[in-house]
Amino acid sequence: MPRMDPVERLRQLRERVRQGGGEARIAAQHEKGKLTAHERLELLLDAGTFVETDMFVTHRCDDFGMAARQIPADGVVTGWGQVDGRHVFVFSQDFTTLGGTLGEAHAKKICKIMDMALKCGKPVIGLNDSGGARIQEGVLAQGGYADIFLRNTMASGVVPQISVIMGPCAGGATYSPALTDFILMVENTSYMFITGPTVVKTVTHEVVDFEGLGGARTHSRKSGVAHFTREDDETTLALVRTLMAYLPLNNQDPPPVIEPTDDANREEPELDDIIPDDPRKPYDIRDIISRIVDHGQMLEIHAAYAENLVVGFARLDGRPVGLLATQPAVLAGTIDIRASKKGAQFVRFCDSFNLPLITFEDVPGYLPGVTQEHRGIIREGAKLLHAYCEATIPKITVITRKGYGGAYNVLNSKHIRGDFNYAWPTAEVAIMGAEAAVEIIHRRELEAAGENREAVRAERVAEYQATFCTPFHAASFGFIDDVIEPRRTRPTLINALRLLTNKQQSNPPKKHGHMPL
Ligand code: HXC
Repeated sequence: MPRMDPVERLRQLRERVRQGGGEARIAAQHEKGKLTAHERLELLLDAGTFVETDMFVTHRCDDFGMAARQIPADGVVTGWGQVDGRHVFVFSQDFTTLGGTLGEAHAKKICKIMDMALKCGKPVIGLNDSGGARIQEGVLAQGGYADIFLRNTMASGVVPQISVIMGPCAGGATYSPALTDFILMVENTSYMFITGPTVVKTVTHEVVDFEGLGGARTHSRKSGVAHFTREDDETTLALVRTLMAYLPLNNQDPPPVIEPTDDANREEPELDDIIPDDPRKPYDIRDIISRIVDHGQMLEIHAAYAENLVVGFARLDGRPVGLLATQPAVLAGTIDIRASKKGAQFVRFCDSFNLPLITFEDVPGYLPGVTQEHRGIIREGAKLLHAYCEATIPKITVITRKGYGGAYNVLNSKHIRGDFNYAWPTAEVAIMGAEAAVEIIHRRELEAAGENREAVRAERVAEYQATFCTPFHAASFGFIDDVIEPRRTRPTLINALRLLTNKQQSNPPKKHGHMPL
């Protein structure tokens, strides 16, 4: 028989591997509204840039009939390509081949690109769609996950790691995404849980379906496990590209600055009147942010979780910045346990990857209540404080209204190394609001006032307000660098950011800090 042309044979082999689990399995995948591993990579990466690695790797398992079972690419497509012209490493699990399960070889392929990513200083983007540890491979599969977890942890803070959940992600498999920086979930087709609905029912007698236990809605609203959700594979992968546009490639790489197309000196007169006269009246902090950042565009993270704190990325003068803002429209902008954790995670990400941080502050304090206390708001609230104290990136604060109590300290006050702290004329920097303060410090006088109690109280409230319910008391000590006209916030921030471009600051040498966990 004539020998087949080697190049032609190579082409055929490649084509066979690319077919994954075959036509029927691919059709089933499509029927579920899911794309294949390769189709996903085509959408994620710039056209024609994907370079596949290890496509001929096979498993070595002989048990449970596996010897006869061929699993193309061992159920995961790995390699590298480009997003907007910048290199990234990728893996994409192929559910059409034995449910995208992870065995020894599958894990080794992922580890190999993670090692390369660390060596090259490039992000890792993982597309997860898998039945989890390949049962037939026993501890080799379990250990394979551990090999990945170790690499996730070593890469943390060195290169950005993004996990996209596009199908099942169960059991120990969830801990690799959990160790990465961002988790995106596809609505209705993805779910994450430690144990599925059947086990839950057996152990706790709770009846819940896949979606309710660990769907995109649950993890974006209740648990906060997911940072983003989108409706299908296409929009979710497009979002990964949007997210990447704000991120540096590694912790030594400068953030991706683009040529600015929005006027750095743009003033926004509407900001002068945006704060309601009544200090208890809410407003949406996003209406302020959108008037300040380039073209009003912000990529909000954890948008449906702990909505009393808004975090996300935007650009100022073409430079990517992290934004953290208390949200007066939800829980009056108080910081509760969930907001503290959400904020701390975000501040630490920005600090790891040298993204300047802008804080917008209108905070009446930490959220009071028995539940919060019993759940440990002392410890949990300290997370955000620790993150801010530790951060050495450029840090700028704008106090729009309240800067009350301990929350004033936490939100990048001057005392914890805020580089520039600005206040609007509507700002109030005080231990607490006037009404509550007067009840405490003038209690005896109010008790003695008898029928005049209301008149005395009003007088004392006015006195307190004149002293503390302004930014000028704090500014007189230099704790506020300047009281600015709200309309000039954008030019002020941009000017400060330009100055801080080469900021150098470090913490004492240590193995690692001990954040209150
Ligand atoms: C081996 C598996 C598998 C697994 C699925 N398959 N999960 N093979 N190990 N963990 C195989 C199926 O036998 C089937 O093989 C193919 O993949 C497709 O699976 P289906 O069940 O037909 O698909 P579907 O109906 O869509 O259901 C998908 C599923 C279900 C919900 C994921 O397969 C399932 O519940 N699998 C088990 C999930 C699980 O418990 N995993 C272990 C988690 S614990 P054929 O022959 O038809 O191609 C874990 C520990 C990690 O991961 C430890 C780290 C510390």
